[in-house]
Amino acid sequence: MKKLEGAGLRGQTAGQTSLSTVEQEGSLRYLGYSIEDLSENASFEEVAYLLLLGRLPTSEELSNFEKELIAMRNMPDSLKTMIESIPGSAHPMEVIRTIISFMGVVEPEESFDDQLKVAKRLMSVTTTAIVYWYNFSKTGKRIEQVSNEKSLAAHFLSLLRQEDIPELHKKTLDVSLTLYAEHEFNASTFTGRVCASTLSDLHSCLTAAVGSLRGPLHGGANEEAMKMLEEIKSVEEVKGFVDQKFDNKEKIMGFGHAVYSIKDPRSDIIKEYSKKLSSGHEKKLLHDAATEMEAYMWEKKKLFPNTDFFHAPAYHYIGIPTALFTPLFAIARIVGWSAHAFEQRGNNRIIRPSAEYIGPEDRSWVDIEER
Ligand SMILES: CC(C)(COP(=O)(O)OP(=O)(O)OC[C@H]1O[C@@H](n2cnc3c(N)ncnc32)[C@H](O)[C@@H]1OP(=O)(O)O)[C@@H](O)C(=O)NCCC(=O)NCCS
Repeated sequence: MKKLEGAGLRGQTAGQTSLSTVEQEGSLRYLGYSIEDLSENASFEEVAYLLLLGRLPTSEELSNFEKELIAMRNMPDSLKTMIESIPGSAHPMEVIRTIISFMGVVEPEESFDDQLKVAKRLMSVTTTAIVYWYNFSKTGKRIEQVSNEKSLAAHFLSLLRQEDIPELHKKTLDVSLTLYAEHEFNASTFTGRVCASTLSDLHSCLTAAVGSLRGPLHGGANEEAMKMLEEIKSVEEVKGFVDQKFDNKEKIMGFGHAVYSIKDPRSDIIKEYSKKLSSGHEKKLLHDAATEMEAYMWEKKKLFPNTDFFHAPAYHYIGIPTALFTPLFAIARIVGWSAHAFEQRGNNRIIRPSAEYIGPEDRSWVDIEER
C-alpha cells in the first residue's frame, strides 16, 4: 500500500513541551540538561525529580524524595492476590499495564492535587510488583518485597537476583533508567497526553501509554534485539545475517529512529556500559556481534542503533531476563509520561486533530435486499 502523504505525523509539531528536546542531529536534553551530563552526574531519582518537579533538587530535597520512594515500594495485599492470578503465559507488558490499572482501582487519584504522589507510588510499586510477578509465575514462590537498597535500580536488581549486586551493575541500570525516562512526543507519551487532555486520571493515562509502548516498533525493540543477537554464533556471521534480513525485507530491531537521522545519543552511552560489562564475560560475543552489526548497518544502509540496541547486551550482562527488558523501559518512562500528563493538565485543551478524508464520495443509501 502506498505510504500516505504526511503519514505518522512525521516532523509535524503537535503541541508544546518544556520537558525535553529531541534534535535530529542526535541531541537529547531534559529541561535543558544534556543526556550525557545527566547520565554521568545524576542518579535516576535526581532525574525523576527534575522531570516531575521542573528543577534539580538540593541534597536535602533529593534525600527526602528518595525516602518517599522507598516508603512507597511495598505492594498492597490485593495487588499481590491479583498478580498471583495472572497466568504465567502473560506478556510482561500486559502485567505492567494491569498493575498500573489495578493500582487505579485500589488507590485511585482522588484529585489532581494527588498527581505527584500517584506518579511516585507507581514508579516504586511497579518495580517491586513486576519482579514479584516474574518470580511467582516462574517458581510459585513469593519473594520478600524489601531490600536494603536506596536506589530504585538497585532495589530492582536485588529483588530479582536475591544476592549482593556489583556497583557496575547498579550503575548500568541506573543510567539506563535515566536514558529511558523521557523522550518528548514519542508514541506512548503522545497517547498518554491525549488521555490526559480529556482530564482523565493519571492511572488511565499511564495504562494507555503502556499499551502503545508494548508494540515492537516502540518499546519491544530491546527484547527483539536480544533474541536476534542470541542467534549469532560468531562475529564473522554478522554480515551474512544482516544481508539475509534485508533480502527477506525484515526490519532489524534496535536500528533506525523516527526523529534522529544520524545517531541516537543514548546509544553511545549504554554501549560504553555494555562494553565494560562484556570484558571477560562468557557471552562477550553479544557485545562484539552488536558492535560489528552497528558498523555494517551504517556501511550498508546508513542506519544507526537506537537506544534499545546496546541495551540488549547490557541488560543481559547484569542478569535481567529478556522478558523484563520492556517493563523496565515502562517503569523509567512512568516519569516522563507523568510529567507530560502534569504539563498537559497545567494548560489543557482537549487534543482532537482532524483527518483528511480519502474515502468514497457522497453516496445514496441502498437497502439490504438490493445490495
Ligand atoms: C524506529 C522506526 C519505527 C522509525 O520508523 P520511520 O521513521 O517510519 O522510518 P522508516 O520506516 O520510514 O525508515 C526509512 C527506511 O529505512 C528502513 N529502515 C528503518 N529502520 C530499519 C530497520 N531497523 N531495519 C531495516 N530497515 C529499516 C525502512 O524500511 C525504510 O526503507 P524504505 O524507505 O525502503 O521503505 C523504524 O526505524 C523501525 O521500525 N526500527 C526498528 C524498530 C525499533 O528499533 N524501534 C525502536 C525505536 S526507539
